[in-house]
Amino acid sequence: EGGTGQDGKPFYAGMSMSQTPDVSELLQGSLDLKDFRDKWVYYDEYDCYGLEYIVYCDNPADPVKECMNIYVPAAYMNADGTINEKGTVNGYTAATAPIIYQNGIGGYAEADASKISARNSDYIKQGYIFVSPASRGKETQSEDGTYIGKSPAGLVDLKAGIRFLKANDSEMAGDANKIISIGISAGGAMSALLASTGNAKNYEPYLREIGAVMDQGDDVYAAQAYCPITDLDHADQAYEWMYQNLQTYNNSRSGESGESTDFEKAVSAQMASGYVDYINSLKLVNTKTGEPLTLNEGGRSGSFYDYMVQEVEDAASVYLNKLSEGSLNVPYTLNDYLKGNYTKQSSGGKQGGDVKTEQGTDLTSFLSWDGSSAKITSLDDYLADYNPRMKSVMAFDNLEMNENSGENLEFGDETHQYLHFDSYMPDVLENLKADYPEEYAKYAEGYDAVIGDKALAERKKLLNPLNYIGSDSVDTAEHIRIRVGSQDGDTSLSTSAVLALSLENKTDVDVDYALVWDQPHGNADYDGELVQWIEKICK
Ligand code: DHB
Repeated sequence: EGGTGQDGKPFYAGMSMSQTPDVSELLQGSLDLKDFRDKWVYYDEYDCYGLEYIVYCDNPADPVKECMNIYVPAAYMNADGTINEKGTVNGYTAATAPIIYQNGIGGYAEADASKISARNSDYIKQGYIFVSPASRGKETQSEDGTYIGKSPAGLVDLKAGIRFLKANDSEMAGDANKIISIGISAGGAMSALLASTGNAKNYEPYLREIGAVMDQGDDVYAAQAYCPITDLDHADQAYEWMYQNLQTYNNSRSGESGESTDFEKAVSAQMASGYVDYINSLKLVNTKTGEPLTLNEGGRSGSFYDYMVQEVEDAASVYLNKLSEGSLNVPYTLNDYLKGNYTKQSSGGKQGGDVKTEQGTDLTSFLSWDGSSAKITSLDDYLADYNPRMKSVMAFDNLEMNENSGENLEFGDETHQYLHFDSYMPDVLENLKADYPEEYAKYAEGYDAVIGDKALAERKKLLNPLNYIGSDSVDTAEHIRIRVGSQDGDTSLSTSAVLALSLENKTDVDVDYALVWDQPHGNADYDGELVQWIEKICK
């Protein structure tokens, strides 16, 4: 369940507890783990050794945000901090065990390294190494107030951490050729970026600046991306394409709700129409059928529209089949579930806040089930009844940008806390100028500044995996798994579909993409399936 942490950062039940270390707690001064052999601590509760707050680059912009925690199953280590080559767990040894690299990024914010806890100790039980990197983010400032964590800083930090692990492969248990990146939401976007921008030259100046290891690569073996908030260049268009017919919004996380104004509706229509052109420009192909995926004018027909409907139906079919087989750990029957005759508990938004009991949703208004497969009446019906609009118009590059506009903050620069970034908005405003002169006067100047801002164009380019997928000069992860909740209104469902299709169409890597029914924005998955996937690709 999503929510907001005490410090205003997104919080997920699956995320681990973390805190910013004191500078005195940092292990720094060397990028060679040999120099820290006496610093490993044994954690009895989890039967692992941990090395906490080791700084992964030589010239950190902010060392408390450029460090990582490393936890190794005890079987792979000796008490003196050296590797025990003989130890085995679940068929793995210190030489073969995969390294889970799970970033803690939410909302494009800075992240702390997580400690080993009941929430992530399953990795240790499976015989995996668990690494939790800290990273800079949209709000990170140096002492003089300069913003030092704007795009691409968070990604650069994660890449520096990968390089550090590769440089220490022979000193540390775990196989640095088997690094598996995991992240949720903005962290899922980062995971997709690590998977698709491996060793790309564009990031090298940034890596050099923080003193990252430069004689190692930053490609990963595999990546899991949960609910990635990505392709920010087209996120507003995508959102308005998906929610074009739903103009009431309700954001339980921020408490904002309301109805789009006429101006916002006009912007929405323009953005949705732009998305039709964008999708058609991508020339995507359904890899199973060979069919080109396109949208017709209006966005509510065409093979791409059908494809998205099919993805929603597939997600429902998987869930309903599991439910009828009795393999879901839920207290309701199939019939009661379909009719919404059950209650479920959900987090009240704020961490530690009220847990609400909610009535189940009657799915029969838009979904039919024939005993083996589900059909929905339309994308709009499914959205209206089950996955409604959460964000108001200009969901990402907000009209009224302020210190709460996540993506505007991410695309700020050293001296600007936040900036506009949507390249399509200047044309949209121009088109609406005659009908909405007041709004034009209010917004055009701000958005117009996007055009011609080369530094901004660079920050955007470096944060979009679609700019790198299929390029000859990157090393793409061999396995990429994408999972998105069917009740995720944080971004358009089409965004992750396009990410998956681009990977399938332009690379030969193994892509496993699905929507997961009944899951909100977060680590949308069925119990155990992440580990099953890791076992499949590592054994
Ligand atoms: C996250 C959620 C958002 O709605 C968004 O726009 C960016 C990031 C997140 O949960 O990380």
